[in-house]
Amino acid sequence: MAIMANLPVLGKWFRIFACLGAMAFTAIASTQAVAGVDLPKLEHGKGDQCVDDVAFIRRHHPDLLKHHRDETVRLGIRTTKYSLKKCVECHAGSKTGSVASSEEDFCVACHRYAGAKLDCWDCHATKPGKQVPDAKPVLPQHGGSK
Ligand code: HEC
Ligand code: HEC
Ligand code: HEC
Repeated sequence: MAIMANLPVLGKWFRIFACLGAMAFTAIASTQAVAGVDLPKLEHGKGDQCVDDVAFIRRHHPDLLKHHRDETVRLGIRTTKYSLKKCVECHAGSKTGSVASSEEDFCVACHRYAGAKLDCWDCHATKPGKQVPDAKPVLPQHGGSK
């Protein structure tokens, strides 16, 4: 059962890696050989370790974080362990103080590379210590204006 449950996730990652592989392959002609295969240089987070095993968090953070998805319920995320605020506290870049202000900032650097775009920052602060005062007004259910 556990393996079955993981299959869609694994499939996704295989597609991503296949895709990255293909991108790297086409990039070889124009740019330096393996540049496209390595992850972008990511700043080390604060402290010694992440909230979970790095391999686990790399693979599962999308599902762990998405509050509006069934996965959150299914995976039983009921604690603040995977709080987005906490990610921001530890992963804000030293230059910008943000996880997503510049292309080198932690979340963006990897997502740009992986081709993932987040709408989280429409509501959630990219910097530590900031509240999300406009989060509730922008919730689409309330009036639909943005
Ligand atoms: C339309 C506004 C909106 C968007 C877009 C949005 N959220 Fe939220 N989110 C909220 C609100 C409101 C809360 C509850 C208030 C709080 O806890 O900050 C919340 C709470 C959370 C929490 C629990 C509190 C915390 O800081 O851990 C997580 C995790 C979270 N959101 C993740 C995400 C992720 C990941 C995305 C992007 C995929 C996202 N949200 C997009 C409005 C939004
Ligand atoms: C207490 C500080 C802390 C918190 C909170 C934290 N991280 Fe981390 N994170 C780290 C550190 C330190 C590393 C580097 C660990 C290592 O290399 O062994 C890391 C590594 C990572 C990596 C792997 C980066 C790479 O080089 O491939 C990802 C992805 C990640 N974190 C995402 C998150 C997400 C998403 C959250 C919120 C759910 C989060 N982190 C919360 C400190 C933190
Ligand atoms: C080591 C690379 C890496 C880092 C660093 C990283 N992500 Fe991701 N993230 C990915 C990949 C790859 C995907 C696409 C995975 C998928 O589609 O299943 C993704 C997807 C997501 C998604 C789901 C997007 C969606 O709408 O489906 C969320 C939410 C997310 N990341 C949040 C974060 C946050 C917040 C941070 C910074 C704290 C972060 N990620 C840092 C690699 C990374």
